[in-house]
Amino acid sequence: MAEVIILPDARAAGELVADAIATLVARRPEAVLGLATGSTPLPVYEALRSRLGGADVSRVRGFALDEYVGLDPAHPQSYRSVIAREVVEPLGLDPSRIRTPDGRLEGIEDAGDEYEAAIAAAGGIDLQLLGIGTDGHIAFNEPGSSLASRTRIKTLTSQTRADNARFFGGDPDAVPQHCLTQGVGTIRDARQVVLVADGRRKAEAVHQLVEGPVSAMWPATALQLHPHVTVVLDPPAASRLQLAGYFRETRAAKPAWQGL
Ligand code: GLP
Repeated sequence: MAEVIILPDARAAGELVADAIATLVARRPEAVLGLATGSTPLPVYEALRSRLGGADVSRVRGFALDEYVGLDPAHPQSYRSVIAREVVEPLGLDPSRIRTPDGRLEGIEDAGDEYEAAIAAAGGIDLQLLGIGTDGHIAFNEPGSSLASRTRIKTLTSQTRADNARFFGGDPDAVPQHCLTQGVGTIRDARQVVLVADGRRKAEAVHQLVEGPVSAMWPATALQLHPHVTVVLDPPAASRLQLAGYFRETRAAKPAWQGL
């Protein structure tokens, strides 16, 4: 079962996860980070600014989870732009060592394989940061995704386009219809996975992720098969967990990842 940590709020969750990432980078300056987009990881990146200040991050590598297909890479909501703005620039990472899937239409048929090859050439991902969609997606692996899938093109569900409309002027039709996303199998290859969720609207997906049967209908449930997963929640996101009391009672003094 995943390690589950319930903290008072998203800021506390961000600080805990930032501590883990900073510890990893201190121990392994050439660490390969799996970077997530969406609102949830922002407190992690915010907390990382002070924790990585002064550290040598020149060799850190990073791979984003996903990208919209057909959106100009310079568009402010392309995940390439978001990762540059929220992660690379404030943390002082080397942009040439940080990649997002190439969602441009030209050559799109090979983009998934190329991304898989780039991750493999970097030696795989040490720590993958994840959020979760309200429908249980991880990256953009929507319900029905193969739990063995690799980086490929997917069609976004109307639910996800509605959820992400806030980044596109509130208009779901302005959200691209397709994306290039790491597969569930790609994510499962990361050596450590840390998933963060906050808010009641994530409670059902979190319940399924931690306590539901493993099913392609809730792609995040595939993480139950991963040996090193930590799920960091605020109380509303944990509100549907039947085992919430157990997780509070058995919480170790240090998360398991600190020993890795
Ligand atoms: C987005 C991203 C996911 C993210 C999820 C939740 O569409 N592709 O990587 O985890 O949806 O986003 P948020 O954290 O904004 O709720």
